[in-house]
Amino acid sequence: MNTMTDRDTHRVIPLMDQRPSGLTVPAAAFDPGTRLTANGLLSDTRSRALRDLRISVTDRCNFRCNYCMPKEIFGTDYPYLKHADLLTFEEITRLARVFVAHGVQKIRLTGGEPLLRKNLEQLIEQLSALRTPEGKALDITLTTNGSLLARKAQSLKDAGLQRVTVSLDGLDDDVFRSMNDVDFPVADVLEGIEAAHAVGLGPIKINMVVKRGTNEQEILPMARRFKGSAMVLRFIEYMDVGATNGWRMNEVMPSSEVVKLIQSELPLVQLEPSNLGETAQRWGYADALGQHDTAAGEIGVISSVTQAFCGDCNRARLSTEGQLYLCLFAVQGYDLRSLIRGNATDADLQSAIGHIWQGRDDRYSELRSALGPDTGAPVKRVEMSYIGG
Ligand code: GTP
Ligand code: 5AD
Ligand code: SF4
Ligand code: SF4
Repeated sequence: MNTMTDRDTHRVIPLMDQRPSGLTVPAAAFDPGTRLTANGLLSDTRSRALRDLRISVTDRCNFRCNYCMPKEIFGTDYPYLKHADLLTFEEITRLARVFVAHGVQKIRLTGGEPLLRKNLEQLIEQLSALRTPEGKALDITLTTNGSLLARKAQSLKDAGLQRVTVSLDGLDDDVFRSMNDVDFPVADVLEGIEAAHAVGLGPIKINMVVKRGTNEQEILPMARRFKGSAMVLRFIEYMDVGATNGWRMNEVMPSSEVVKLIQSELPLVQLEPSNLGETAQRWGYADALGQHDTAAGEIGVISSVTQAFCGDCNRARLSTEGQLYLCLFAVQGYDLRSLIRGNATDADLQSAIGHIWQGRDDRYSELRSALGPDTGAPVKRVEMSYIGG
């Protein structure tokens, strides 16, 4: 019996591989013969340090958020990376050690959905044994959609994870199910957040991507829910990252509007940044005297579209297969895997990574703001599900 619907027969499923191909530059090519030894003081062409390494551990996810992995592209036949292509935990840890020698203080594990990577706890154990040149432990965190968190919170904590950031785009079950596009119930994510809280994986951050016309009605309920919870809710402007989400400026709700909306019910006061290069602008809930009520906590707004924050960007990204990206919007990665699977020594890796960072000039969000809305950028940009947020 032919059960195909009209929709099925007309649906086009482009079986494209969204990963950039043929753009990889061997990192060795960037070592112009001068040996560079890590001293923690690395600086790029815009005097930006290297402090934050984001490591993607899988390109797979069990959600299909339309702004990140639209079902039409990331269907069941999508050519995900093969196991042999993924960096092993030992390879990741070896690279991480070199990045730490160069000044990295924070490591964020991302995906896809990082909790889908088998035995992730082993990687966390290995990473948590690393120390900065001053002998300090790293800030090790993870971005998750929360779907497996209730099950895994305790083992992640035991392995040495310090905190988690959970993506949550709304509290209304219908809105949430439709945004994750796999009909996943919001209650299960809330349970995961509670489990993380209970085992001390904090301070927990909750990231909500705001899409105008899709979930802006969830802003106030989310603010009410997390006020006073000791968790920091952050509102993220929907970005033109990747090449598959059909981004349009009219679906971006500027952070200034988000703040105004929340202020209409819950007064806020602006707070100082806590770190150089921070993605979020911080706002605290105000008390009756207009002072920050620390018990009520704070929110953050991440305005990469309307107020780019490239000026102090200290983030590097390592893809699941070991390519180093210097910007979330990069079209090109540097193939570190071929170096470590070749015969590169740690000194070779230090030198290559140092040279790559020293040559960095990326500031995509700043440049796009200067171009104006909907002026599109190169379509070959790497997907966020491949290098992580
Ligand atoms: P904390 O250390 O917990 O403060 O995390 P963070 O804000 O540095 O990282 P997180 O991954 O939670 O960032 C939140 C969101 O900000 C991401 O999901 C992205 O949407 C966006 N974002 C993070 N880093 C960058 C960046 O370098 N450039 C741009 N344009 N957006 C970014
Ligand atoms: N715009 C803004 N944030 C995005 N994320 C993924 N795609 C986008 C996008 N187009 C962020 C979300 C999600 C994290 C994994 O990446 O915060 O929580
Ligand atoms: Fe998965 Fe996160 Fe992308 Fe949603 S935003 S599809 S949860 S990786
Ligand atoms: Fe950094 Fe690129 Fe984001 Fe700018 S757009 S903040 S350079 S990752």
